[in-house]
Amino acid sequence: MPGETPAPASTAAPEAVAAFLGDKESMAVVRECFRQLENAEPYVGSGSITTAIDALAKTPSPRILLVDISGIADPLAQVHRLADVCDPSTAVVVVGDRNDVVLYRNMKDLGIVEYLFKPLTLDLTLRACRACRADPGAAASAVDGRKGKLVTIIGVRGGAGSTTVAVNMASYFATQLSRDVALLDLDLVGGDAALQLDVAASDGLHEALAHPDRIDELFVTRAAIKVGPKLHLFAATEPLGDTKILDDQAIMKLLGYLQQRHRYVFVDAPVTAGIHLDRLIAVSGTIVLVAEPSLIAAREIGRWQDKIATLRPAANICRILNKAGEPGGLSTSDFAAASGHPVTLTIPADAEILRGANSGIPAITDSAALRRALGPLIRDLTGEIDSEPRSLLSRMLGK
Ligand SMILES: Nc1ncnc2c1ncn2[C@@H]1O[C@H](COP(=O)(O)OP(=O)(O)OP(=O)(O)O)[C@@H](O)[C@H]1O
Ligand SMILES: [Mg+2]
Repeated sequence: MPGETPAPASTAAPEAVAAFLGDKESMAVVRECFRQLENAEPYVGSGSITTAIDALAKTPSPRILLVDISGIADPLAQVHRLADVCDPSTAVVVVGDRNDVVLYRNMKDLGIVEYLFKPLTLDLTLRACRACRADPGAAASAVDGRKGKLVTIIGVRGGAGSTTVAVNMASYFATQLSRDVALLDLDLVGGDAALQLDVAASDGLHEALAHPDRIDELFVTRAAIKVGPKLHLFAATEPLGDTKILDDQAIMKLLGYLQQRHRYVFVDAPVTAGIHLDRLIAVSGTIVLVAEPSLIAAREIGRWQDKIATLRPAANICRILNKAGEPGGLSTSDFAAASGHPVTLTIPADAEILRGANSGIPAITDSAALRRALGPLIRDLTGEIDSEPRSLLSRMLGK
C-alpha cells in the first residue's frame, strides 16, 4: 500500500503465520497484512478451514492462523476439529461471509480470537493479527478455551505398566494422529520413559522442578527432549536414593505451560516416587489407573477409584487391567469383582509389548493387539465416542 512503512527489522525468530482462504480478494488482503506484520513468516494458501485441518494434522502449528468458513455447512463443528489438530498456543482468526452475531459469539466461546466477515479490510485484518500477539486478554481467552488435555496415568502398584501405557499412548497420538504431545515422567530417579523411547534424559526437568521461579516458556522449551516432530518428553535420571518429595507447586506451574503448548499432556505419575498426587488429580481431565491381574492390585485400584471420586468427581476414569491372561493372574471378572468396579479395558500379557519396551520402539507402532486394546481410551480422548453427551465448549475445555 502506498505510504505504508515496512515492518521494522527484529532480532527475534520470525513466527509462522498462515491463512487458508477461499477467494482471491481475501488472499490479497491477508498477503498484504502478513507483509506488514512484524517478524512474520507467512503462508497464504487457497482453501478453507477443512484444508487447514488437513494441513495442520501433518505440520507444526503456526502462531497465528486465519481460516475461511464461507460455504461450510457446520462451521462450529469444524472449529472444534481444528482445535484438535492445532496447538493450543495458536491464535485463530475465523473469516466468513456472514455478519452473524450468534455465530460470532459461539466462535468466541470456542476460544477464537476474532471473527471477520468479507470483504476483508486491511486495517481490521491487521488489527486482529496484532491482537493475537499483543493483547494478553485475547491470548488468554484462546489459551483458556483450548488448553491441552491433561491425562494422568497411575500404576496402582510398581511394575503394573503405567510407563508402558503412557509411552505408547503419547507415541500413538504424536506419530499416528499427528497431535502435538508432551509426555512428563515424574519418576525422576527410576523413570524409564526415556529408555522406552530410546532417548537420553536431560537435566532440564530437574532444573525446572528445582527452580519453579525460573519456569517460563523458553525454559520449558529448552527442557523438552524432542523424540519426534510432535512428541516432547520431559524426563530425568536423578542419582539413586534421591527421594526428596517433589514440590507439587512446581509441577503445577510446569503443567500450566505444557497445557498451553501441547494438545495432549500425558503424565506418568508413579505412586512410589514421593509425589503428592492430589493436586495433579484435581486438575486432570482423564485419569488412567493401571493394574496387573493380582488381588492386591484389585484392592489398590478400588482405593484409587474412591480417592479420585472425592478429589475430582468430574474426572473421566479409565481402569486398565494390564497383563491380562498372565499365568496365575485373576480373570477380568474376578478382578472387577475384587476391586468393586468394572474394568474399562484390558491389555493382554504379550511378548511384543515387552519387546517394545526393551527395543526403544513403542509396541503400538507394530502391535495391532495393543492398538485394539487401547482403542476405547484413544477414541475417548480424541472425542470420537462419548459416554455421555457433552457440549462443544466442555469438550474444548478438555472436561
Ligand atoms: N501387557 C504387557 N505384556 C507384557 N509385558 C508388559 C506389559 N505391560 C508392561 N509390560 C512389561 O512389564 C514391565 C513393567 O512395565 P512398566 O515399566 O510399564 O510398569 P510401571 O508401572 O511403569 O513400573 P514402575 O513402577 O517401575 O514405574 C516392563 O518390562 C514392561 O515391558
Ligand atoms: Mg514406570
